[in-house]
Amino acid sequence: MFIINKIIQIFFLLTTIVFFNLTNVNANSNDSNVDKMHFSFDGVFGMIDKASARRGLQVYTEICSGCHSLKHVSYRNLSGIGFSSDQIKSFASQYEVLADPDSEGEVTMRPALPSDRFISPYNNSNQAKYMNNGALPPDLSLVVKARAGAASYFYSLLNGYKEEPENFDSSNGYYNEAYPGHIIAMPQPLYGEDVEYLDGTEATLEQEIMDLISFLTWTGQPELNERKSMGFRVFLFLIFMTTILFISYKKIWKRVKAGLI
Ligand code: HEC
Repeated sequence: MFIINKIIQIFFLLTTIVFFNLTNVNANSNDSNVDKMHFSFDGVFGMIDKASARRGLQVYTEICSGCHSLKHVSYRNLSGIGFSSDQIKSFASQYEVLADPDSEGEVTMRPALPSDRFISPYNNSNQAKYMNNGALPPDLSLVVKARAGAASYFYSLLNGYKEEPENFDSSNGYYNEAYPGHIIAMPQPLYGEDVEYLDGTEATLEQEIMDLISFLTWTGQPELNERKSMGFRVFLFLIFMTTILFISYKKIWKRVKAGLI
């Protein structure tokens, strides 16, 4: 009896652990200028909206890729947000990468292949800094996850270019309400209507930011949708097992109490 009791306790514990792991959301920022927001991928069953992530890729490609790399992502990974292999091939082939040296040792350029990583705007970080007044535009692959406040911070940052308060010295950059210290080296990248969405969605500033969040959450956690749907199945399984165990526990105890065992 003791053993069955224990097993049931362990199952309850496991169920609870799985549940809390699933609801685990990113760290909250202490910065009062970052409002905690709700996103489609929050919570136990939340998923990344793939159509939104594809629009985010378009914004990244047309606006952000001029300064920011995305070096942890290969073109073929785009299948994760619904691209077919032909679409990936033609997307990759718009870009050029260094080819292997030929038989004479000459290095030329070749069109990028699906297996190549996203090309970087600069050859190295010194060049990146040189072109941005000494500030290094960070790689965006993991940036949403890497900042305290995560997606909420990202949203507030891109929305945070406001009129600077009087007497504020912004000679070293641009005033931004959400950026720690409020002075950022990145000029405001989005105003709304910055792209013409291929799927016809209206490109408001809000829409562009939300789409970038979908896309960059996916680049940081490409397994998020699979993990959550697997977690959900494990959760159901644990509930099922707990119920079965509980029923058998009741049944056995009934017989013990009745003095049959
Ligand atoms: C003209 C170049 C340029 C463009 C275009 C640009 N950025 Fe930046 N970005 C920078 C620089 C430079 C920094 C570093 C800022 C600093 O250190 O003060 C930066 C920093 C950032 C950061 C990190 C902020 C932090 O908390 O450290 C994020 C996120 C970011 N950019 C997102 C974007 C997105 C999204 C786009 C496209 C919509 C974009 N950037 C377009 C130059 C650019």
